[in-house]
Amino acid sequence: MARLLITGGAGFIGSHTCLVLLNAGHDLIVLDNYSNSSPKALERVIELASLSLEKATLRLEVVQGDVRDEGILERLFLEGSQAGRPIEAVIHFAGLKAVAESFLKPTSYWSVNVCGSQALLSKMEAYGCKTIVFSSSATLYGAAKSSPIPETAPIRPVNPYGATKAAVEMMLADLAGCSGNDAPFQTSQNGWRIARLRYFNPVGAHPSGRIGEDPSGHPNNLFPILSQLAIKRRSSFKVFGSDWPTPDGTGVRDYIHVMDVAEGHTAALDALLTSGPQLITLNLGSGKGYSVLEVLKAFEKASGVTVNYELVDRRQGDVAITVADPQFAYRRLGWKPKLKLSDMCRDVWTWQSANPLGFHNEAA
Ligand code: NAD
Ligand code: UFG
Repeated sequence: MARLLITGGAGFIGSHTCLVLLNAGHDLIVLDNYSNSSPKALERVIELASLSLEKATLRLEVVQGDVRDEGILERLFLEGSQAGRPIEAVIHFAGLKAVAESFLKPTSYWSVNVCGSQALLSKMEAYGCKTIVFSSSATLYGAAKSSPIPETAPIRPVNPYGATKAAVEMMLADLAGCSGNDAPFQTSQNGWRIARLRYFNPVGAHPSGRIGEDPSGHPNNLFPILSQLAIKRRSSFKVFGSDWPTPDGTGVRDYIHVMDVAEGHTAALDALLTSGPQLITLNLGSGKGYSVLEVLKAFEKASGVTVNYELVDRRQGDVAITVADPQFAYRRLGWKPKLKLSDMCRDVWTWQSANPLGFHNEAA
């Protein structure tokens, strides 16, 4: 079992992954500035992992801070090595992720996502910690020409957020000494073990309803919008585009349950720690696409709430279909998503109905 640094571990995907990692026996340090999350998420992770206070202190250290802060990074790596418990690997979730906001604040996105990754990777290099799992995104593929999309598809980001993910992917390839080669598996000659995980559309929540997605401000993504509608936190739902070249005219996406995404991280980490230096690039998706109207119907069935909607124009920057070709990830990791769309809808509803205000719900 390893001692791991998890940046952004209080966030949506990070918190679910921390739970899976703790259950797998790893010890964690979480570094998060809570810019889009709450410390309560980690309190609930401790509760779900059934850790006593004493065990929790030993197994989950929580540090509030910015991933760009070299002083904090230095302290974390130094303390670990001085105590004979060095950080063996990093899972790097910390980042900004809202596509629309990235057009308004491109420099913030480059600062947090790219400079934050650079600060982290420099410190890892300095301490000889050469294993990292990085949160990349299917947004890299832009409007891909074929579907399903393999990892070898061209990288053509169409928004600043995607450009920052592409930049970090390139930085990682340079570090591994693998630049200029697009193969999803490459051997690294200089000892780095790197997984670039390209998530498709992670949704859902832990089935207990204790942790889930809690976006600050107005959500832009389909599932948080549907669930806030169902609890009457918002009143209207607009379907962006009904004239896409898809069976019912609405956009098709590859939704994947966040618990399956979390399991994908432990599988990627195991693959890195148990085989030689490498750079692997993996699509985390199910390979199956659902339209907005199909999701809406599944969500109505799971929640028992009727969602009124309006068909409106396409949203700027959207594409018709984004579906993963996940076969390489399945083969390489021996991992496969287990949960279905109905499970995703059920678990989002369990989470949202028990926590109408997310982690700010005083009654929870
Ligand atoms: P999230 O916003 O819930 O989690 C990100 C976490 O990083 C938050 O806890 C936030 O407080 C923290 N953070 C942000 N800036 C930081 C900084 N400067 N220093 C320290 N901590 C900071 O997002 P998520 O959905 O859990 O996504 C995690 C990662 O996966 C992100 O890198 C995101 O770009 C990527 N990703 C997410 C999706 C998705 O649909 N959720 C899809 C593809 C890729
Ligand atoms: N949609 C609506 N109405 C809404 C919100 C969304 O019709 O109010 C539609 C979109 O047009 C799209 C589908 O629902 O067809 C999914 O939209 P999301 O905003 O939930 O997700 P996206 O596929 O646009 O993007 C998400 C993340 C990105 C990530 C990408 C990876 O937001 O950060 O998945 O594929 F990069």
